[in-house]
Amino acid sequence: MGRRRQDRFGKQARNDGYPARSVYKLEEIDRRVRLFRQGQRVLDLGGAPGSWALYASKKVGKNGRVLSIDIQGFGIDPLPNLELRVCDVRDLVEEEKSQNAYDVVMSDMAPKTSGYRDQDQYRSFKLVSMATEIAAATLKEGGYFVAKIFQGPDFEEARNNLRPLFQKVRIIRPKAVRSESYEVFLVGEKRKPLDSVESESP
Ligand SMILES: C[S@@+](CC[C@H](N)C(=O)[O-])C[C@H]1O[C@@H](n2cnc3c(N)ncnc32)[C@H](O)[C@@H]1O
Repeated sequence: MGRRRQDRFGKQARNDGYPARSVYKLEEIDRRVRLFRQGQRVLDLGGAPGSWALYASKKVGKNGRVLSIDIQGFGIDPLPNLELRVCDVRDLVEEEKSQNAYDVVMSDMAPKTSGYRDQDQYRSFKLVSMATEIAAATLKEGGYFVAKIFQGPDFEEARNNLRPLFQKVRIIRPKAVRSESYEVFLVGEKRKPLDSVESESP
């Protein structure tokens, strides 16, 4: 895909009032999978500057709730149905596990890239593993999971970790992903009943 088409997403994001072009990745995933419905509870991991969080808050409406977490500050303001929290997701794993269930857990978390592809991929894998752990503990039956991952040697393991949890696991590479990027999104559809997950665990 050419740079011009890629840049179109940045311009469109500014026109649509989103702080980052990444919103069109989520929009495409939502269009293909139907992630969101009015009234849902959504957990957004690695949410700054805030495009995914804003998009989700619109989709779940005034009776829904979105909690977005990032180590960096956000480029948007909180809303009545959108809470923004600045902290490391690593510090939240235990706390989030005791929270009420979510309908959607999504992670656009990415490590600071070092330029060493294997190292960056491994860090991305570790972030996805943490997001999977949180989703396993907090997603309702029938819930959805989305996580960005850099493709590499650990990719299959990340995908396999989702299979016992979801009825279907898909890989989606939205059009808004830059052509030079090796990121894709793992999507877990319809969380299996909790008792079936327990009985499949080793
Ligand atoms: C690509 S950006 C997310 C963009 C966001 N989805 C949006 O639409 O505006 C990736 C984010 O992951 C965050 N991140 C990486 N590791 C994290 C961690 N351990 N805890 C919380 N946030 C993390 C980074 O600070 C960065 O803001």
